[in-house]
Amino acid sequence: MRILAIETSCDETAVCLMEASGEPGSGLSYRVLGNALLSQAALHAQYGGVFPNLAKREHERNLVPILAEALRQAGELHGRSGPIEESRITGLEDILARESELARQLGEFARAHAAPGIDCVAVTQGPGLEPALWVGINFAKALALLWDKPLVPANHLEGHILASAFAPEETPLLPAVSLIVSGGHTELVVMRGWMRYELLGSTRDDAAGECFDKSARLMGLPYPGGPEISRLAAEARDKGLAPLFALPRPMIDSPDLDFSFSGLKTAVRRALEKHGALSEDDKRAMAREIEDAIVDVLARKTLAAAEKEGARSIIVGGGVSANAHLREKLAAAAEKAGIAIFFPPQALATDNAVMIGLAGYLHAARGGYIDPRDLHARGNLPLAA
Ligand code: KG4
Ligand code: ZN
Repeated sequence: MRILAIETSCDETAVCLMEASGEPGSGLSYRVLGNALLSQAALHAQYGGVFPNLAKREHERNLVPILAEALRQAGELHGRSGPIEESRITGLEDILARESELARQLGEFARAHAAPGIDCVAVTQGPGLEPALWVGINFAKALALLWDKPLVPANHLEGHILASAFAPEETPLLPAVSLIVSGGHTELVVMRGWMRYELLGSTRDDAAGECFDKSARLMGLPYPGGPEISRLAAEARDKGLAPLFALPRPMIDSPDLDFSFSGLKTAVRRALEKHGALSEDDKRAMAREIEDAIVDVLARKTLAAAEKEGARSIIVGGGVSANAHLREKLAAAAEKAGIAIFFPPQALATDNAVMIGLAGYLHAARGGYIDPRDLHARGNLPLAA
């Protein structure tokens, strides 16, 4: 099956064309034919976080060029042989009535290009920022109409899990415990069957990525803060810098599998107030302690979840899974416990369209198509009840 996938849930505009076959546990494989992504991070940095209406506007402006680039890479950007019926263009304009700039660009694209060789269009339905999700969804509906292809909705969190689970040759054995750590989510789920998720625990307040980002902001580091903290923390380890302060490890010994990171951010604020101006080495030491605190909690709870569930695999996904220290710490703990562990390839750790193609493929293979009229953005779409 060939899937064209679209992701716009936050500040990445991404489109991919991929080919997938097989089933999880019996030879699922996929090949990315074209994959284009534009990050808006630099634009949002001036606000210290993602500004939803700016994200929406940027998605509107960039989806058509990103689509064209993904199709070009896949060798599927074909010129039209004859003119398009004007009723098709009108149809696109109706769907994209609220995204007039996108409607104009797509109209132009449709007049110039023939349909690519695909079987369906997949798009992120949620969770995410609703104004941003709607742009991708309306774009997907317009493409489905233009090319006469079925539409399949994808859950962003399921995408993160699948990007990690199907990266290598080897497929995770079930039951698997999955840690999803991103800017908006921190969840532990158990999969006793493929595509069946049961929630074991989640954050009661801030997500782990949010804690990285907010702590970084307090330190005057640019958005997104996770990679910045991680870079400084690695320098602190190289230099052997001792922590300036001991930060708490919130809920690390609690008997449940929940998390709480807002107290950690508050502790960072207090420590900074107490300390005053930070030297470059102070910043490094501070970053190291922040990263250690977050990673300690994530690793302890993930191993506790895996042991409780008798998991044979641990699957880590979401933007924070790009963190090298988290990978090291979790890999060592999993090895000690004799549990296989899976991480996404670095390029698929943060948001991308390949993960949406994977989720879309598995649902499409089960007939999980949706009538475009029934597809709505769901900012709080859960993965598991
Ligand atoms: O999955 P993602 O790209 O977007 C959401 O779905 O939220 O995750 C973004 C989050 C941000 O909070 C970012 O700071 C964090 O992932 N992140 C990292 C690293 N790379 C990205 N956090 C820690 N270390 C990293 N290397
Ligand atoms: Zn994400």
